Amino acid sequence: MEKSLLRQEVIPFFGQFTILILVAVLSDQVLHFFHLVWVGRYLGIPGTLLILLSLLYSLRKRKIITVGNPKTLLSLHETLTWIGALLVLVHAGIHLNTILPWLAMIGLIVNVLSGLVGQRLLHRSRQHLLELEEKYRLSGMSAEDIEKEVFWDSVTYDLMAKWRVVHFPISLAFAVLTLGHIISIFLFWEWR
Ligand code: HEM
Repeated sequence: MEKSLLRQEVIPFFGQFTILILVAVLSDQVLHFFHLVWVGRYLGIPGTLLILLSLLYSLRKRKIITVGNPKTLLSLHETLTWIGALLVLVHAGIHLNTILPWLAMIGLIVNVLSGLVGQRLLHRSRQHLLELEEKYRLSGMSAEDIEKEVFWDSVTYDLMAKWRVVHFPISLAFAVLTLGHIISIFLFWEWR
């Protein structure tokens, strides 16, 4: 059980985050090596667009749009935010002079970490549900055991619900900081 928790949840969680940071640092080094630092300046734009595109899942979930498989759109959300975050990190790592972009970058990292936690919780919840179905199917189970199983199931769902209360405001804070950063860039251009 402990081994499977490590393999199924802990390693994917830290793995995805560590790879994100390593690839960002490596890309930054490559850009510096080839004197392409200016490229990083523009990577913020596709990065932000990918993150925005990933929010199609949220529109689908809230029935603002009705096309698209929710499961596929959630996978897309997870993948596009990861790639988007990578591009934004390379963009940010190269030139961070003022406080607002720093805060936006911290917001992004916290947002990604929160997303990865949610991904693991969802994975766990799904597994519990499958296990429960299997147990019902076998049906040789005592009422007490079923109750225990249902309890754990509700705990994981409860955790998921609590996590949603956190992930959404974090996303909002990140969006506000990013918007502030983008507006300040435009203001800076106008004043020059
Ligand atoms: C820039 C980074 C991110 C932003 C702005 C963001 C934003 C959001 C938002 C707004 C929602 C709520 C959708 C809704 O209820 O309408 C959401 C849900 C979710 N996100 Fe993220 N997210 C980010 C990164 C990630 C990452 C990196 C992952 C995992 C790899 C992830 C996994 C999830 C999961 C599993 C849900 C829950 C789906 C559900 O409860 O229906 N997110 N995200």
